Amino acid sequence: MELWGATVHSSPSELTEFGRELLAENPDHPGSLGIAISEAVAMCVADPNVRYALGSVLNHVLMHQTIIGEEALLQLAKVDEVPDVLVGCTGGGSNFGGLAFPFLREKMAGKMNPTIRCVEPAACPTLTKGEYRYDFGDSAGMTPLMKMHTLGNSFVPEPIHAGGLRYHGMSPLVSHLYETGMVEAISIPQLECFAGAMEFARTEGIVPAPEPTHAIAAAIREAQACKESGEEKVILTALCGHGHLDLASYEKYLSGEMIDYDLPDSAIAEAMESVPVI
Ligand SMILES: Cc1ncc(COP(=O)(O)O)c(C=O)c1O
Repeated sequence: MELWGATVHSSPSELTEFGRELLAENPDHPGSLGIAISEAVAMCVADPNVRYALGSVLNHVLMHQTIIGEEALLQLAKVDEVPDVLVGCTGGGSNFGGLAFPFLREKMAGKMNPTIRCVEPAACPTLTKGEYRYDFGDSAGMTPLMKMHTLGNSFVPEPIHAGGLRYHGMSPLVSHLYETGMVEAISIPQLECFAGAMEFARTEGIVPAPEPTHAIAAAIREAQACKESGEEKVILTALCGHGHLDLASYEKYLSGEMIDYDLPDSAIAEAMESVPVI
């Protein structure tokens, strides 16, 4: 971005009151998507010429992303296949929703019956360990409340490499589908994800971003289960980003420096206290 003239500030930053507060408490604060959203909204409300376009979570974003699933449907039709299992990584839910919703439509119409599974990081298990509550979309409590799965708006995930999945909440649409049992969810730790990414890179010649390594690891789990059971399944996933900007993460993995983090239930319970009681 700076190559093309932008100035990039890491969040929490010294530019907003909320950022300064967090840095005063912890100069090495690892930040989170919720904090970055708060700072972006703060910049926006302070300047009438600034606009903020959200890139995930909200219904219209997921709807726009459904081009992914519509294309995947056409691609599969060309080879006369339907998926038995569909897996997608979930941060705010946009690439997952974009891939899954058109297939869900077909499933509801009785045209296919795929298992549809969200995959989240073990360090930020919003669907599998969070609660379905009204919460803020950001950490400073500036956005409208949304009914969604949340770990609490003050939850700061450990600094895993899939930065795009370090979000305390989940799209209300994906949360609703999970609550109604129309989609499943699992969480996977990052070392397994990067092991899957290595296998993917070596077989496909594509370096995946840390976020979709979660979906890749889930696809590998499913394929291995098939190997054991002798079943044949069509497994569909979306590679939502390449990893050319994330080579430092691969360096950490290859040098053995990457670690998995424990997430004690007490950390979630503490952050859940930041959720408004309605
Ligand atoms: C490559 C990539 N994939 C996935 C995500 C997670 O977002 P979402 O769950 O909205 O797809 C991000 C977020 O920054 C990302 O950069």
